[in-house]
Amino acid sequence: MRMTPSLHKLVLTAHVTFGVGWLGAVATFLALAIAGLTNEDAQMVRSAYLVMDLIARFVILPLSFAPLLTGPILSLGTRWGLFRHYWILIKLLITVLSTVMLLVHMQPIGVLADAAAKTTLFSADLHRMQVQMVVAAGAALLGLLAATTLAVYKPRGMTPYGWRKQHERRS
Ligand code: HEM
Repeated sequence: MRMTPSLHKLVLTAHVTFGVGWLGAVATFLALAIAGLTNEDAQMVRSAYLVMDLIARFVILPLSFAPLLTGPILSLGTRWGLFRHYWILIKLLITVLSTVMLLVHMQPIGVLADAAAKTTLFSADLHRMQVQMVVAAGAALLGLLAATTLAVYKPRGMTPYGWRKQHERRS
């Protein structure tokens, strides 16, 4: 069912705000993860992991679910459809993978924040998790940049289902 123009604008505004907001929050998270891994100042390292835990729980996590909801609503409520164009399927895949990756990393983020709250220096055990944060945040940032680029360029490629639907409409 097609959305009315005013509803379309409302959902699109929410979609772009949440999606690009998510990207911005992940970029901040990555900067803190790099600071936590490389900085010599123990006070700075502890602050980085405490702030990362807050950003992950209260900004990134809620923002990650919003495009998963508004994206399919926009797709189904417009001429794009959910399964007709490869760019939409790829965006859906990137969004689902990024959200899963975030959920998987919530626990280690909590462990690092806990250690930061209790101790001044990090043990070698935590080093692996610190590296993991940088790698995961970097991968998520690349994925979200790809999703934004696909959204703006909207490459032509259509799925076999999309071709069939277009053919049915024409004939
Ligand atoms: C983090 C993930 C996402 C980001 C950063 C993002 C970003 C954007 C942006 C910036 C636009 C506006 C492009 C323009 O108007 O030129 C857009 C449009 C759109 N997005 Fe997303 N998006 C994301 C996830 C999704 C998902 C999961 C879906 C669907 C499965 C989706 C479906 C759409 C559709 C159909 C449009 C076009 C709407 C229209 O022109 O009416 N997006 N997206």
